[in-house]
Amino acid sequence: MAAAGSAVGLGNIWKFPYTAGQSGGGAFVAIYLFFVIFIGFSVMLTEFTIGRRTERSAVGAFKSTDRRWSFVGVLGVVTGLLIMGFYPVVGGWSLAYVFKIGGGLLSEPAAISDSFGSFITNPIQPLMWMGAYLLLNIVIVMRGISGGIEKAGKILMPILFIMLIVVSIKGLSLPGASAGLEFLFKPDFSEVDSGVILAALGQAFFSLSLGMGCMITYGSYLKKKENLVQTTGMVVAMDTGVAILAGVAMFPAMFAFGIEPAAGPGLVFVVVPQLFAEMGGAGTMFALLFFVGLSVAALTSSISLLEVVVSYLIDEKKMSRIGAVLSASVVMAFLCIFASLSLGGVGPTIFDTGAFDVFDLLTDKVFLAVGGMLICIFAGWRLNKQDLKDEITNQGDKPFALFELWYALVKYVIPVAIAIVAIAGIYGGFT
Ligand code: PFF
Repeated sequence: MAAAGSAVGLGNIWKFPYTAGQSGGGAFVAIYLFFVIFIGFSVMLTEFTIGRRTERSAVGAFKSTDRRWSFVGVLGVVTGLLIMGFYPVVGGWSLAYVFKIGGGLLSEPAAISDSFGSFITNPIQPLMWMGAYLLLNIVIVMRGISGGIEKAGKILMPILFIMLIVVSIKGLSLPGASAGLEFLFKPDFSEVDSGVILAALGQAFFSLSLGMGCMITYGSYLKKKENLVQTTGMVVAMDTGVAILAGVAMFPAMFAFGIEPAAGPGLVFVVVPQLFAEMGGAGTMFALLFFVGLSVAALTSSISLLEVVVSYLIDEKKMSRIGAVLSASVVMAFLCIFASLSLGGVGPTIFDTGAFDVFDLLTDKVFLAVGGMLICIFAGWRLNKQDLKDEITNQGDKPFALFELWYALVKYVIPVAIAIVAIAGIYGGFT
């Protein structure tokens, strides 16, 4: 459940719909699903296996096998820091929306879209919400009470799921909604280029929390009798199910409202409130539940990101938990300030791209995929095949019929596939 909590987050509900919208819809979704099944599943199983085998979190897992491989863990830590350089900004938006909706945002449906635009480009307000969101992470991770938030997640995530279904039904009932479903599920491969393929690969890694050793850490907590293949299947299915449902919740309504599919990062913050606004009184209640659920889903993901950095500082740099949390979050807060301000056009840019987009691009389109590739190379070429088989099958107790296929994918196919997709995508200029 904790691994599912890490996987299901802003990546599914905020990022997936707008990335699908910007990347042409159906073809992107089809390629994303292909990557989830053939790469995501295998990489998650690999991370769980390494974690449970070594009983260590990311950096320690590599180091205990071969010091020369520690850099893969360290790359994961850097990636975690960078993702936390923008994730809390969006987490803060979600928190803010709980209060904005409580304060009557839905009473003026026509103003919802503009209100989002002026909110995120305001230099001060989003920073305060980001600070509040980061503070929640700090308190949870500092006190080592992630168990508490996971319990909250067990109640609130199903509620979020139900709200997504409510949004979907409402969206589908609007005139013109079917065009949205067509956009999402009818692939048109003629527009696919290397950038779209890399975006789909990055989305699969980001959404499943793969490529930075996060799932190695969760694997180390798994009991020896747990069925790794089944656990992987469940986490992948839940994560992907939520993403697709978020797509179904968003696109029909967007087409009905005449919002551009490529509208960008504001999508969920504009479409969902508009839909709920159409429902009258009950809509406000639903919208509140939706954004509380989204905030908790975001929290269960970001604490896993923060924890990757914190456990590295504690284990390898011998810091105290409090010191580790504080130093990690100071760096994160600093990065987030740049990220948040960049949306209002303030601060430095690299190739005309602001900090928010730079952190986002670097992490999900480069670091996570490269991390995943290195994790596969490590498992396939450095670890012993029989050891892997013993770990996955619980010493033969739980046979895994597709072991040879998984092994071949991890050892040969995935590293080559990621290298090709990443090089072509980066060469194509991320477009
Ligand atoms: N999977 C999370 C989401 O979809 O929001 C984000 C994430 C968490 C990425 C943890 C990577 C990670 F290690």
